Amino acid sequence: MCGIIGYIGSKPANEVIFDGLTRLEYRGYDSAGIAVVDKHKIHVRKDIGKLRNIRKLLLDEFESTSSIGIGHTRWATHGRPSAFNAHPHGDCHDSIMVAHNGIIENFMKLRRELAASGHTFKSETDSEVLAHLIEASYQGDLKQAVLQAVKSVEGAYAIAVIHKDHPDKIICARKESPLIVGLGKGENFVASDVTAILQYTRQVVYLDNFEGAEVSREGIKFFNADGNDVEKKSVQIDWNPVAAEKGGFSHFMLKEIFEQPQVIRNTIGGRTSEEEGKIYLEELKLTGPDIYRTQRIVMVACGTAYYAGCVGKYLLESLVRIPVECDLASEFRYRSPLVDANTLVIAISQSGETADTLAAVKEARKRGAKVLGIVNAKESSLTREVDGLVYIHAGPEIGVASTKAYIAMLTALTLLALMLGKIRSVLTPEYVQEKIRELKILPQQIERVLDRKDAIRDIAATCLDARSFLYLGRGFNYPTALEGALKLKEISYIHAEAYAAGEMKHGPIALIDHEMPVMAIVTESDVYDKTISNLKEVQARSGRLLAIATEGDHEITSLTEHVIEVPRVSDIFSPIINVVPLQLFAYYVADLRGLDVDQPRNLAKSVTVE
Ligand code: F6R
Repeated sequence: MCGIIGYIGSKPANEVIFDGLTRLEYRGYDSAGIAVVDKHKIHVRKDIGKLRNIRKLLLDEFESTSSIGIGHTRWATHGRPSAFNAHPHGDCHDSIMVAHNGIIENFMKLRRELAASGHTFKSETDSEVLAHLIEASYQGDLKQAVLQAVKSVEGAYAIAVIHKDHPDKIICARKESPLIVGLGKGENFVASDVTAILQYTRQVVYLDNFEGAEVSREGIKFFNADGNDVEKKSVQIDWNPVAAEKGGFSHFMLKEIFEQPQVIRNTIGGRTSEEEGKIYLEELKLTGPDIYRTQRIVMVACGTAYYAGCVGKYLLESLVRIPVECDLASEFRYRSPLVDANTLVIAISQSGETADTLAAVKEARKRGAKVLGIVNAKESSLTREVDGLVYIHAGPEIGVASTKAYIAMLTALTLLALMLGKIRSVLTPEYVQEKIRELKILPQQIERVLDRKDAIRDIAATCLDARSFLYLGRGFNYPTALEGALKLKEISYIHAEAYAAGEMKHGPIALIDHEMPVMAIVTESDVYDKTISNLKEVQARSGRLLAIATEGDHEITSLTEHVIEVPRVSDIFSPIINVVPLQLFAYYVADLRGLDVDQPRNLAKSVTVE
């Protein structure tokens, strides 16, 4: 998704901005641009393509060393990827420049009205109307013009605005799209995402909806929709900038897969007491009565976070004995969902900015449900919309394909299920004690899987020409199959479909022949024998079988072409360990096919549009 960075200080603005834009690359983009104010003139350069290919234009041969400017990476929504659709966008005379994230829903109407009153448009974007609206309202006061302009806008926006006659300020504002202000010494920043400015400052202020800021070198004034001053508190971001670098790995995705043992330690850190068999989730904010009153749980999320929710269903139903439904946030929000005060809605999101998940949460709260967020990004929009929170502590996830956030979500859901199961007297303290013990050794067990990376790479190398894959799993590992298939298709562009293994004979079995690899998740569990029977059906039709199986399982080796072994763990922890070889498998297939693993085509990291 699009990214914004603005800088005002004493360094050459285009250098700081270009650097910030490279740190936003992980969000996915198709074009980029920078605009600065220099001697009552705007200098703007923008083009289609990756930053490394347009570096000359934006950095090496940029004609100004001005120390105030804004930049943007664009992920096309309205209007094809092109230089003229790239941001920043100007008004009729290029006196004003705007970088915008979000979608202006009534832009057609606004554009017609502005054109009728003489404005000329240079792009096909919805965003350009903002520059013209500001131009139409401008009477010497940029802040007032921005406030006036956004009044006519329907939809979502995070904007950073500069004006040729105001070399001393950037005006920014937000509604429904994230925006932060970073505080430096003699310099200040605006950004859509902390990763853009972490190397300069960790002190940031998160703007709320309908808030804005006037950012100058000396300081920042925050204001509300009426233009009145508001007090805002800054927060110290504890993410280490090094954590956002590749640290010697060839891709962020690989680095993040290898961080997973530590991520589990971080997610459980300080939240368990083995002696007492207790789990502490401090930000949860659910009272005893809330927990006893809950008759139904509904998970809402998108993509990988949704599959984490599907594992959550198995966990909560077996450990808490409450019925759980999983809903795609984009479906939930539009189907008049049946939730009430006795329903607990759990919204799961790495970014905390996914538009559909945020809208689903608002819908659930409107209908009286309590909403719990399971979130990675601190202070993200979702964290401000929920009644209680469980932070997953995965740290910054840069690779577009989610890996470590998924593992952290599963770990957090396991903690939640153990805690609720104990409070509702479904689980004994002894059971919880035993599971805490097992949870704590899970990181070492995952390290053993990571040690098998070369073997997994060799298996991946045998599958590079496959046109389609089938992933099979049952029970706790049906969602693992779904997530494994998603990983493969999003980064290798090979079609992959996941099925509950018992469902295969009801249709997909027709696809099986000697060219179709079938990846089976068949670790020890109550449904092991059933899954083996399903795999025999594949074998009987000459399907190519690959399997994730428990160490020492000899039965499976006679059935399959390749086996990836994982350590033996309890069924409830098996989704956490079994997904790791699937992540590595997808990674190596994509890498060996020569693809851009960290920024797969058409994908964005944080999907802030519907
Ligand atoms: C897949 C992936 C996406 C996200 C989805 C939700 O690898 O990254 O499917 O999981 O867009 O994103 P969040 O978790 O930020 O709400």
